[in-house]
Amino acid sequence: MHFDILTLFPGLFDCVFEESIVRRAVDAGLVSIAIHNIRDYALDKHHVTDDTPYGGGGGMVMKPEPILGALEAVVGAELVARQKATGNVEVPIVLLTPAGRLFRQEIARQYERHGRVVLICGRYEGVDERVSALAVTDEISIGDYVLSGGEIPAMAIVEAVTRLVPGVLGDMRAVIEDSHASGLLEYPHYTRPAEFRGLGVPPILLSGDHARVARWRREQALRRTLERRPDLLEGADLSDADRRFLARLRAERSE
Ligand code: ADE
Repeated sequence: MHFDILTLFPGLFDCVFEESIVRRAVDAGLVSIAIHNIRDYALDKHHVTDDTPYGGGGGMVMKPEPILGALEAVVGAELVARQKATGNVEVPIVLLTPAGRLFRQEIARQYERHGRVVLICGRYEGVDERVSALAVTDEISIGDYVLSGGEIPAMAIVEAVTRLVPGVLGDMRAVIEDSHASGLLEYPHYTRPAEFRGLGVPPILLSGDHARVARWRREQALRRTLERRPDLLEGADLSDADRRFLARLRAERSE
């Protein structure tokens, strides 16, 4: 899996990619990350990357030429143009913006299947719209809040996609059981000690009965999802037993 990241602040990525899972994935040759400084592609002698907005108003807008120049240098002008002309995405070119569609596990899976993705980190008030018109194939937000730029969202995407690359996580069960992997939030976890500050562990987890543990976990995941993110239940993969359990929970709540 290869990531190209276009940013005005390459240094922000140093420590995040030098630790933990992403670092191990890079060291193992399963993932590669290239960070490109948009400023290097500014055409004028002062390397200006932003300008005031047409129509007035506050703030600055990122100029289109440096970003397009960087994209064409990184993936090639033909690919950029071809994707826009045909609508067939070979390498997703993603603009991080609070105005994008919401990032989800399913999008992480799609990016992993592409094998390569380009992430453009917007800054200031925004990016000149012609970058999207000419090159971007996907505009993504990581949540309904505003950050100062797309760098942290890009880190989040790199991490979410890296976890899905085969071989990156030793235990693939962790991927399968993650929150969102099955469309539900994850069940609660416990480890030793069996009692901590007066709080025990659900006895079923100590029973050794794997089938009952699996059913309990499933029901906890359903209960949590109903309580915290009921919107997810519509798209989740539910069995008849799941539906019966949810109906019972809903009935209990309305009593
Ligand atoms: N840039 C600023 N805020 C953002 C967000 N929530 N998601 C993606 N990019 C952003």
